[in-house]
Amino acid sequence: MKEPPLLFLLVIFICSVQFTYAQQSNLNPYNYHPVKQIICRNGAVVSANALASQVGVNILKEGGNAVDAAIATQLALAVVFPGAGNIGGGGFMIVHLKNGKNVAIDFREVAPGAASRDMYLDSNGNAQMHLSQDGYLAVGVPGSVAGIFAAMRYARLPFKKLIQPAIDLAEKGFVISDAEAKSFNGSKNEFIKLNTTLPIFVKDEVWKAGDTLVQKDLANTLKRIRDNGAKGFYEGETAKLIAEEMNRGNGIITEDDLKNYKPIIREPLSFNYKGNTVVTMPLSSSGGIILEQMMKMSVFENIGKMKFETPQSVQLMTEIERRAFADRAKFLGDPDFVKVPVKTLVSDAYLKKRLRDYTPGKAGNSKDTKEGVINVESDETTHFDVIDKEGNAVSETTTLNGWFGSKVVVAGAGFLLNNEMDDFSVKPGVPNMFGAVGAEANAIAPHKRMLSSMTPTIVLKNNKPWIIVGTPGGTTIPTSVYQTLIDIIDFNMSPEDAVNWPKFHHQWLPDELYIENTFDKNVADELRKIGYKIVIKSGIGRTEVIMVKPGGSLIAVGDGRGDDSAAGY
Ligand code: GLY
Repeated sequence: MKEPPLLFLLVIFICSVQFTYAQQSNLNPYNYHPVKQIICRNGAVVSANALASQVGVNILKEGGNAVDAAIATQLALAVVFPGAGNIGGGGFMIVHLKNGKNVAIDFREVAPGAASRDMYLDSNGNAQMHLSQDGYLAVGVPGSVAGIFAAMRYARLPFKKLIQPAIDLAEKGFVISDAEAKSFNGSKNEFIKLNTTLPIFVKDEVWKAGDTLVQKDLANTLKRIRDNGAKGFYEGETAKLIAEEMNRGNGIITEDDLKNYKPIIREPLSFNYKGNTVVTMPLSSSGGIILEQMMKMSVFENIGKMKFETPQSVQLMTEIERRAFADRAKFLGDPDFVKVPVKTLVSDAYLKKRLRDYTPGKAGNSKDTKEGVINVESDETTHFDVIDKEGNAVSETTTLNGWFGSKVVVAGAGFLLNNEMDDFSVKPGVPNMFGAVGAEANAIAPHKRMLSSMTPTIVLKNNKPWIIVGTPGGTTIPTSVYQTLIDIIDFNMSPEDAVNWPKFHHQWLPDELYIENTFDKNVADELRKIGYKIVIKSGIGRTEVIMVKPGGSLIAVGDGRGDDSAAGY
């Protein structure tokens, strides 16, 4: 394997110093640092923010199980990670219970009742993508709070205990990191332009690392949820504040839309990979189906014989990604609204045919590679992982879609609303903010769930959690989860390397191969020579992994690309 980049070694060094500090410091919202890797025995949480991870671990120490810790972490992220943590968005949760049962909780946003297929087209039929991406019309009916209460049936501690750390962080404040300061400053003009009332994230001076963010309105909203359960969000004062905000900004979500929102408990998608069971998210996310397609195609082509990040392995994986995304664009959508041929799409027979036209050493192209032939069959986002000492595990990805979502903050309630409507296919063939295209299956309809790429995943060995993984990153989510799993399972990489070494991504259209700027330049040149159009990206995903080692110790890894942080005991 090639030498690690200097920056990576520096990050590891800084992290090990910070690791020692953070272990001593526990939860101090005015002085904390990310911890990139932790090895422990009893329980671990890894998330986008050190405070949120520590909140989760404290709940485990107080007798909570992995679901309790996940709920507390999710609520804390809604306070300390406003760019993507949320109560105004939605997401997916995969739970493995110690009794062997696996559950998928779908709390994806839905289109408002007044939404319509062509709502983002002008009178000439042209897509007005700014309307699906920013501001009031971009907002889907939020699912996050309903998802939390759907998960409560698997929790053990009283809800009041799980939400209190989030209330405290909102009410008493916490210091922000350099990355957070930059993101508030960078979005200031959009916050001003897109809101009817200036949100707390806008101030006259520039934000700096170490400034304290206090969110009193958000604290009061969280208290209403604490006291009234899901009704504290979907009915009463909070629902009224959302509906009033919609009226002020010409949005279309009504109090009825909120009252009628329902999360769905689903059977997870499970498949065998080299003797392990991969448990992942079914529709309304495309992530699990794409992951299953990609992993199965990899095994048919014997990826294990190749090596990490060689021109051969990257080309094969790129062509696999291209084909999976061509299928996504054509076939996938909310299964309550469209018939999706899932069984065929993940069948061995179908997937073996998908790679028939793949030529090693020569780039494919998306003009010739279409979706597969089906015979009729009878995003910004944030991810966290939790495991407890009893063997319960949670992999959860939740999102506002873009960074700060629609950028609309509900005045008086203090939280950001998503811009998830952009995950629908606004017009067939017109790319969304992730460049993804879609077709009829993902067209807008009232109350329909927009297609997601989120891929929270738990890999079981002998029916016990082995790898818990997921990432934010829109359409790059399934490919980052895919590469992380192949890196660990087929290329024998450590979880730290699998998380931090460079990633790449192909999504059929645009016909471009994205590579991270740390990707091996020689390999990139080889791929260019055989015909790939390479586009360099500053970062792909922020993958979090917890791995259970033989003997039972836990290794939790937070992605070096962000403030991501692991905690455990
Ligand atoms: N909003 C990103 C996703 O759901 O895939």
